[in-house]
Amino acid sequence: MISPCLDLNEKGHLTISGCDTVELAKQYGTPLYVMSEDQVRQACRSYVSSFQRFYGGHGKPIYASKAFSCKEIYRIVLSEGLDVEVVSGGELYTALQAGVPGERIHFQGNNKSIKELALAIENGVGDIVADHLEELDLIQAAAKERGVVAPVSLRITPGIDAHTHQFIRTGQIDSKFGIDLQSGAAMEAVKHALSLENVKLTGLHCHIGSQILEKEPFVHAAQVMLDLYHQVKVETGAALDHLNLGGGFGIHYKEEDQAIPYEAYMEAVSAAVHQKCGELGLALPRIFIEPGRSIVGEAGITLYTVGYVKDIPGVRTYVDIDGGMFENPRYALYQSDYTCLIANKASQPADFVATIAGKCCESGDLIQEHTKIQTPQAGDILAVLSTGAYNYSMASNYNRNPRPACVMVREGTSRVIIKGETYEDLVRNDL
Ligand code: LLP
Repeated sequence: MISPCLDLNEKGHLTISGCDTVELAKQYGTPLYVMSEDQVRQACRSYVSSFQRFYGGHGKPIYASKAFSCKEIYRIVLSEGLDVEVVSGGELYTALQAGVPGERIHFQGNNKSIKELALAIENGVGDIVADHLEELDLIQAAAKERGVVAPVSLRITPGIDAHTHQFIRTGQIDSKFGIDLQSGAAMEAVKHALSLENVKLTGLHCHIGSQILEKEPFVHAAQVMLDLYHQVKVETGAALDHLNLGGGFGIHYKEEDQAIPYEAYMEAVSAAVHQKCGELGLALPRIFIEPGRSIVGEAGITLYTVGYVKDIPGVRTYVDIDGGMFENPRYALYQSDYTCLIANKASQPADFVATIAGKCCESGDLIQEHTKIQTPQAGDILAVLSTGAYNYSMASNYNRNPRPACVMVREGTSRVIIKGETYEDLVRNDL
């Protein structure tokens, strides 16, 4: 199984954290997002302990909540000692509602509105990550109006091209994110931030992309960012507090994916950080990282009920499910890989080649093409694995489909953490 929380029981059914997925489908209905709390906590712990091991605790992991945002996930990661990153007023509001203290929130975004900045400043957000030089002036004005000094870091585009899907690559020069390093814009923004009375520049940030399966781009980014960190000290005399190296660590979607264990990234990057600091005579900054997918991705699965099985001889066989791109748009957007299986026949051979089709009125509404599953028939429960990240958080109501419920499972027990939407919810804001 591609994730440690998954197994088979004596009935040959797929289980997650000790819960029979066929029973979960019966109890809560489908489509259904299921997430293993055990696995989320395990991932958090492995990051926290890596910080002890490789940086002597001098830094911290921050959960990038764009991967999966709801009140319960904020409570869980907070209780494991992680800070949280938010990227919109909505995520910020949800985190605050869940009880995350402002000072443990890091606020990203390439075009934060004045209203969003005000919400952050009024709630004492501990780290506003500015994406443009001009944003610094907006933060300055909002902080001055409220008589406070806002802690700010700067998102830098380090010019590193990570090998991942082009839509989720962010560190290269041609990016809508961040302040460019090569042109000198980064140093200009540093100097501008230092000149502002109601802004306290605390650190530098970069994020090079997502679902990256190699260590080298992270090592390279750390080296480039430490050079800048050092240059800031030399040119301005300012001693910053932290360097945030972003997220992006890849996970398993298919058995054959070569996901690197988190500890291995941490080990390689920390070795490079320590070496570079030694070369530059620089005291070790606090190191932050911002994993999202690798905290929740493999902990989640989605359960569906199979409807029609449509064979087009010599072409392909479509297996229709009761979900689709409205609750998992990732295949339609990125042709993402997934492992699919029939949960109630999980111990049988997966030798049936299927195209899993959603129920939206769109030919591209597919979850996977030409994938091997157990022989399907109407009424079977189809499971799609590794859907914990960027599924619920990217869901929509396309074709007025209600978003499914999310159930959290732990040591054989289950509870709803997000209720499924109803038809009444769909018309709530219609006038
Ligand atoms: N920090 C920043 C500033 C980010 O932009 C991101 C992801 C992360 C951290 C977390 O990256 P992760 O550890 O989750 O890879 N919707 C796409 C992924 C978009 C990622 C956007 N930024 C997908 O479904 O693959």
